[in-house]
Amino acid sequence: MTKRSFIALCFTACITAGTHDVFAQKKTIDQRVDSVLKLMTLDEKIGQLNQYSSKEEVTGPESDKSSLLLEIKAGKVGSMLNVRGADRTRRTQELALQSRLKIPMLFGQDVIHGYKVTFPIPLAEVASWDLQAIEQGSRVAAIEAAAAGIHWTFAPMVDLSRDPRWGRVMEGAGEDTYLGSLVAKARVKGFQGKGLGNTDAVMACAKHFAAYGAAVGGRDYNSVDMSERTLWEWYLPPFKAAAEAGAATFMNSFNDMNGVPATGNAYLQRDILKGKWKYTGFVVSDWGSIGEMVNHGFVKDKYEAALSAITAGSDMDMESRSYTANLAKLVKEGKVPVALIDDAVKRILRKKFELGLFDDPFRFSNTQRETEMVGNAQHRAIAKDMAKKSIVLLKNNNSLLPLSKTTKTIAVVGPLVKSEDDMLGFWSVGWPDNSDVVSQWEGLQNKVSNNTRLVYAKGCEVSDTSHAGFAEAIAAAQSADVVIVSVGERREMSGEAKSRANIHLPGVQEELIQALHATGKPLVVLVNAGRPLVFNWTADNVPAIAYTWWLGSEAGNAIADVLFGDYNPSGKLPMTFPRTEGQIPIYYNYLNTGRPAPDDDKPSNYRSGYIDLQKSPKFAFGYGLSYTTFDYSDLQLSKTTIGSNDSIIVTFKLTNSGKYAGEEVVQLYLRDEVASVVRPVKELKDFTKLLLLPGESKTVRFVINKEKLSFYNAQLKWGAEPGRFNLMIGSASNDIRLKNKFELK
Ligand code: GLC
Repeated sequence: MTKRSFIALCFTACITAGTHDVFAQKKTIDQRVDSVLKLMTLDEKIGQLNQYSSKEEVTGPESDKSSLLLEIKAGKVGSMLNVRGADRTRRTQELALQSRLKIPMLFGQDVIHGYKVTFPIPLAEVASWDLQAIEQGSRVAAIEAAAAGIHWTFAPMVDLSRDPRWGRVMEGAGEDTYLGSLVAKARVKGFQGKGLGNTDAVMACAKHFAAYGAAVGGRDYNSVDMSERTLWEWYLPPFKAAAEAGAATFMNSFNDMNGVPATGNAYLQRDILKGKWKYTGFVVSDWGSIGEMVNHGFVKDKYEAALSAITAGSDMDMESRSYTANLAKLVKEGKVPVALIDDAVKRILRKKFELGLFDDPFRFSNTQRETEMVGNAQHRAIAKDMAKKSIVLLKNNNSLLPLSKTTKTIAVVGPLVKSEDDMLGFWSVGWPDNSDVVSQWEGLQNKVSNNTRLVYAKGCEVSDTSHAGFAEAIAAAQSADVVIVSVGERREMSGEAKSRANIHLPGVQEELIQALHATGKPLVVLVNAGRPLVFNWTADNVPAIAYTWWLGSEAGNAIADVLFGDYNPSGKLPMTFPRTEGQIPIYYNYLNTGRPAPDDDKPSNYRSGYIDLQKSPKFAFGYGLSYTTFDYSDLQLSKTTIGSNDSIIVTFKLTNSGKYAGEEVVQLYLRDEVASVVRPVKELKDFTKLLLLPGESKTVRFVINKEKLSFYNAQLKWGAEPGRFNLMIGSASNDIRLKNKFELK
């Protein structure tokens, strides 16, 4: 027996017996990785770089799965996605362990905002500006996913986007780099918990690397063209934050970046991620993105695609079969050094060791833990709390809200009132066992007194042209003391491949609102969507409006809590809401230009703006109302001149001047007045959310240091430049309450 086969026998014996490798304790993970790598044939190595989806749940273009089982048993499928459940993952893992070296398989899944208990969509969660709650939401998602046999979630999506035509804004953290970076860190920490190896932790996956949210025209999968400085200043920091938070994996993106597809982009994956950032995790391609470089016109065929992607740093091939079909030939022809293959394999094996899968390949496939953890009441309570915090109160004239629970008759109208699936958002699609969703209708029934009569009328569909339901809706309104109208998008109208050129309220929904408004009854509108929508007539004429996104399993209960004052809404918009599609891209941290639009926001000649529309948005970044009011006063700076190693302590007093207890998200913005590259008119540099009782005051404290004054100059050098800075503190980017200036020497 050769030495190599003796080692293989020992290794196999340990794995087969499922016993703990007796030498494991003494070896580092890298040593254990090397010991496995030494045993592997080239084909087995390539198998680790190959990932297939199950055929039952497909989240991309379908492909032939006829040889799937044979390939798994032959060790040619190192990972699968869309295989879930303790039983199903166990059975699939058993197939993988029939391979010669019994290398355990990784199971990945898009657990974006909850597994069974579904949380508000990520963009809605960010509207809470509550980083702890955001982390906790990812923590619950991880606990449930891990209990269902999943090792790896393809989240957080950290793509900054300034274009609400792009349907995937629903998955991200909105338009701001500072907020998006903090959210990226919170979500990675939530998913990975106390670290890989814990059976309530899953690998995170920072995606889509990089700048996918800047697709031209907001058209999904489209080209991205930007300066390196813009890339570094706005789009990379959330990825860097995810890497620094320990994200176990990255996923590259479908788009080309300045003409080079991200999947084959060595600048992104080798120079920046694995080079400058010294990233040691692995990169998975997006679904089929390696093979799609043929469509891009970047390579001639999948043979060249495999060469380009492995060279550029794409370690694992999701669903394109480019690696499994071509890498061995490329190595034999000397075009791909086996060292490149080994580097990718080691990165992947390292994660399998860290997850403990070599010690026990079935450790996540535990039906008892699955029963206990998946969909439990505690998780629902956490999801409801996040849903309440995600609601943004856009308008509340004459304090129409909160409603009284003893209101005699409430008309509840609209196509989303009784919808359950639409509360779950795009990424819960096709998961038949989602936890029972509390619809808005049920939430109201759970809330109101027995003396209150709820009258339902659908009014219209989400996106058809029929007015046939209007009469019934109007009659319901006329019989009521107050009317609640719930409108918006179906869950398949935002998400992947759901770009919309027209982001107005779909169908005749706004006409329905106008017809109900004409009855003269007090009107409350709820807008449910995965993105900012345009609804100008409603915004101008309806007295009370709440943006309720898609709030997940507890949507109805959370909305009812807000409508009846059991929770005072505290959400703030993480994205700018345009007045019309013609304003897009529109965002709060714009550059002043040489001919800035006048402050009165009126169209004007020879100024940057439109002759047919104001320049300002309908609703601004950071905007959101409360049932109470907050006063900002007594701004103090510890100094107004600082050196580069100094910091300024900024304090001010916040007072709850209304009659409800409430939370306020106070926002700190800075403007660098003069710099070697022009700086935005304001940039979010800090925030905090605090609860104040009626009449209560608290002192808020921020620290400004050099890091908060720094940016990438024209030579991509990060640093701060001497000069004067404007300091602005406010309740929204367009609602600045306190101002001052200071100088960096
Ligand atoms: C999809 C998405 C990506 C997802 C992957 C697996 O095409 O772009 O975000 O994680 O495929 O479903």
